[in-house]
Parts: sequence; C-alpha cells; structure tokens
Amino acid sequence: MCGIIGYVGKRPAQNILLDGLKRLEYRGYDSAGIAVLEHGKLTVEKNVGRILELEAKLGSTQWASTIGMAHTRWATHGKPSTANAHPHVDHTGKLALIHNGIIENYRELRKELEKKGIAFQSQTDTEVLVNLISDLYTGDLRTAVQEALKLVRGTYGIVVLHEDHPGMLITARNGSPIVLGLGDGENFVASDVTAMVAHTKNVVYLEDGEIAELHAGTHEIRTIGNETVTREASEVAWSIKQAERQGYEHFMLKEIFEEPEAMRNAMRGRVIPSEGLAKLGGLNLTEDEMRDVRRIVIIACGTAYYAGTVGEYFLEHYARIPTEVEFASEFRYNNPVLDEHTLVFAVSQSGETADTLAALREAQRKGVRVLGIINVVGSTIARESNGGVYIHSGPEIGVASTKAFIGQITAFLLIAFQFGRLRTMSQQEGIELANELIVLPEKIERALAYANRVKEIAKHYASYKNFFYLGRGANYPIALEGALKLKEISYLHSEAYPTAEMKHGPIAMIDENFPTVVIVPNDLYYEKNISNIEEIRARSGKILAVTTEGHTILEEYADDVLYVPETLHPLYPFLTIVPLHLLAYEVAVDLQRDVDKPRNLAKSVTVE
Ligand code: F6R
Repeated sequence: MCGIIGYVGKRPAQNILLDGLKRLEYRGYDSAGIAVLEHGKLTVEKNVGRILELEAKLGSTQWASTIGMAHTRWATHGKPSTANAHPHVDHTGKLALIHNGIIENYRELRKELEKKGIAFQSQTDTEVLVNLISDLYTGDLRTAVQEALKLVRGTYGIVVLHEDHPGMLITARNGSPIVLGLGDGENFVASDVTAMVAHTKNVVYLEDGEIAELHAGTHEIRTIGNETVTREASEVAWSIKQAERQGYEHFMLKEIFEEPEAMRNAMRGRVIPSEGLAKLGGLNLTEDEMRDVRRIVIIACGTAYYAGTVGEYFLEHYARIPTEVEFASEFRYNNPVLDEHTLVFAVSQSGETADTLAALREAQRKGVRVLGIINVVGSTIARESNGGVYIHSGPEIGVASTKAFIGQITAFLLIAFQFGRLRTMSQQEGIELANELIVLPEKIERALAYANRVKEIAKHYASYKNFFYLGRGANYPIALEGALKLKEISYLHSEAYPTAEMKHGPIAMIDENFPTVVIVPNDLYYEKNISNIEEIRARSGKILAVTTEGHTILEEYADDVLYVPETLHPLYPFLTIVPLHLLAYEVAVDLQRDVDKPRNLAKSVTVE
C-alpha cells in the first residue's frame, strides 16, 4: 500500500527521500512523487510507474532543499495517473500533502470547498484534504491541520509541507501508521521504519489521533485536541542490511532461506527442554487464567489466516482447546459469539492490516482479551493487543509472506505447548516435543537443500495453467498456503482441498493438463493419501508429491517427488511448506513474473 517518507535536516533531502521510497517499494504502488522547498518555493515532481521512472524524469536535477517529503501511491480513489499521484498541492500552490488511508466524507467536503470557488485537479480524497487545511489556514499550520482533521472521517497518515514554514513538517495519524525517526540535527517521518532505518534506529511511533511537528533538531507531539504528549523513543532491533537482498536474486528467495532462522528467532529463550516446557513472556495471563480458557478464536487474513489454521490444529492437538479460525474481514461484521472464557488471537505480519485491526477492536468491544502474534514491533495491532508474541522474523520485504508464516506457526506451537502443559500434556511428551523443536530449524535447512531439485521440476510445471494442492490435517492449511503463494506470484490458477475431499467434486476437473501437488508425509494419513493419489492417477492426473525422506516408494505413484526430513507427525507443516514456497517462487521466476512485487498486490493492506 502507499508509502510515506519525510525529511527535515541539514543534508539535501532529495536522495534521502528517493532512497527511502525505494525501501518502501515492496509495499506495492502504482505512482510516486516528491516535494521539496527549493529556494523557498514548493517544488513537486510526480509520475505514474516506478520510482526509477520518477528519477528519470528528474534527470540531473539535484535540489539543494534540506526539507521534503515523498510518496508511493496505491490507487484507491481514481486510477493511477500523474494528477492523482501525491504530493497534492492546494489551490494557492504553497501547501503540499501526502496521505495514506481513505477520507470517507471527502465528497461532502469537496462540495463545500467547490462552493467557495476551489477547483480540483484530481479525483482524490487527498486533494480535498489539502484544500481543507489550506482553507482553514491563517498562519498557524499545526492548528489548521488539527482543525481540518476534526472535520474528516476516515483513516489517514499524512505529512504536510508549507512554503511559509520552511523548516517544519507536520504529520498526523489515524488508522495509518506513522513513525518519527530521530537523528542528529535531522528528523524523519515514514509510514514504515524500513524507509529510514539506514539513517536512524531511534524511533517514536505516533498513535491514532496524534499530530507531530518536526524541525531539524526538535519534535513535538500533541493530540488533535491539542494536549501535549510525551513519548520515549524506542530502538529498531534490526539493521538495514537485513532489509537488503544480500546477493539473492529476489527478497522472496532470501526470505525463504531465512525460514530456519525465523523459527529460531521465534523460539529463542521460550523453550525449556529439560523441563519439557514452553514459556512466552508476553501473554499477560496467569496460569489460572490460562486454565480458564475454554475456546480460542483466531482472526487473520491471507497467509496469516493459514498460519492460524495450522495453529488451530496445534491448539486442539496439544492443548485440547476448541479453536476456530475466522477471516478477520468476516469476523468484524458477523457479531461474533464471544464470552469470558474465550481468548482471541490476532495474527498479522505487518500488524497494520485494516481488517485484522477492526476485528481485534470488535472483539475487545465485546470485552474479550485479544493477544497479537505479530512481526512488526510497535505496529498498530501489536500496540492495541492486550499482550501477545512477537515472532522476530526481521523485515519481510517480498510482498508474498514466507518466513513470517514459519514465525507465526512457531508462535502457535509454543502457545499450544504452554497451554498444553497446564492441561493434559505430560512432562515426558513435553520433553519429546521440546527436543524435536530444538532440531527442527536444522531440518528446515535440510528441506531447503533440495532447492535445486525444486528449480528443475518447476520448469516443467510452469507450463500448466491450473493446479490442485492437497493435504490432510495440519497439512491442509499448508496446501492452502502453497496454492495461495503460487497464484499470487505466478498468476496461475491453484486451489487447495483436504485430500479426501477431491472425490466429492473437484476430481471432475482432473485430466492430464491439471496437475496436483499432494502433501503426503509419513504421518497417520500416509496410507490414505496414497489411495487418494491412485484415484487421481486413474484419471490421468499428473502428481507432484511432497513426502518424507526414504519414502522413495512414492516415485512409483507420482510423476515427481520432493522430500523433507522426518519429524514428529504434528510438526510436518514446518517442513512441507518449504518445497511449496520454493515451488511457487521457481514457477514465478520461470514465467518471468515480478516476484517481489506481484501485480495488484500490496504488502500491507491498510484499507478495507
Ligand atoms: C500472502 C500475503 C497476504 C498477507 C495478508 C495479511 O503472501 O502476504 O495474504 O498474509 O494480507 O497480512 P498481515 O500478515 O500483514 O496481516
């Protein structure tokens, strides 16, 4: 989704802003723009397409301005065009605004402004907001922004720059993330720390309903209602190097190869093998409160939803707690049935997904405790949760989520483990599970060692247009995740079913042009899965099987076989997902897709 970066300091702003925008490219966008105050005059350049095209348009221009802001837009109101791109400038030509989010009452506001004779150049809600601020401006910019924001309904993360205030940026948020970056004689503002972590790791997260004034050496936060806010800065725990490709062809490939580390990071300090225990510090629940939980509801979207579905399996298997997973976008409007014995988990890599955030708020409104399973530290969902687990996967830049999935299912496993040991799980079982968890990251590494084999196979599968993905038990969500990954980055049709469901309808689709990826590890469903494979073979269906090392017998049933190491039956999802992530990646590469920035998608979906 849209990206924001702003700078005020002692260095020329232009390259800092353009570099910042490039760091935000992964969020997905269709146009980009930049504004500075060059020799005191508001100067704006914007363009449809990639940041490189904006740079090309700027040519050899090097502005001296030490203040400015830049934006990548993901179209919501009005198609991608230069007129609709940000920054938007007011009718006086002195005030510029960049905006993430949606102003819901922009039509009414626009009519009011049109009555006053203001003409609009674009179809955007943002141009309405910049003119509203300008209309209320009488010399005090912060007050004008505060007054304007009192009149708008909707979500925003904004930055404002005015010719009359050459050393000041104003920023505010409601529902769209804004982070201040504090430097030495320079300050930054961005929608995502990635944009500025190359310059400072000292950050302050703005809360909803807050506005900040940034100068080169100072920053001041207030509420929209003008109360002073004091907030300590926090330090970003990862370095800019982690947000770089480090020799990999794509971020997605790098992040798949970081899956073993993602598991280690999510487990670090949380498993005690000698006692057969898991302990998560942030759940904010006493042991009695944990025993009192009778039902768990997991809310999430996309890949995080599938991680939640693996989580459901872990929670029911290890902790024997009835668990349901709901799409956050449905949950928020379904008037969910919740009581004092229900615990809700909100799962989100970005911590900013609008549907998940709204679902969390709906659950809290009903008086239920919501715990977050989040990657991005300081994100909105992390802050609004009543506790939870950071997965510490580090920055995930590829639009398609991969390593965070492993982090999320690790978190669920640890939660199930912790709850399980307070209920039915014996110490012996706990020790066995803990011992296996300790070696599982190495087994993920071993699964990754088959990457070249996946690459070879992918060449062949890239020529098909339709795919089935099948799995049973906790490998059914792995089939769903594998199918989602393939469709989102390669644009090939793929759908997933619980393996035995094939015969209830989908098998009608099978012919020699419709391959099936079957997850068939050596678990309790092994024999049954083989029978299902035979049913598909009998209809000339092509099979790619993912199975456990040593089960070469599968080569007699399947056209191609990919192997993963042996593990405890419930833990296979940690391994079977690896070849499926690699397969999606290699097929997309083979089809020459833009793997890290697939069409129509955004990294964090901050609109409904
Ligand atoms: C799939 C993908 C999306 C996200 C979904 C939720 O690869 O990236 O389906 O998983 O938009 O995003 P978060 O986890 O940030 O809430």
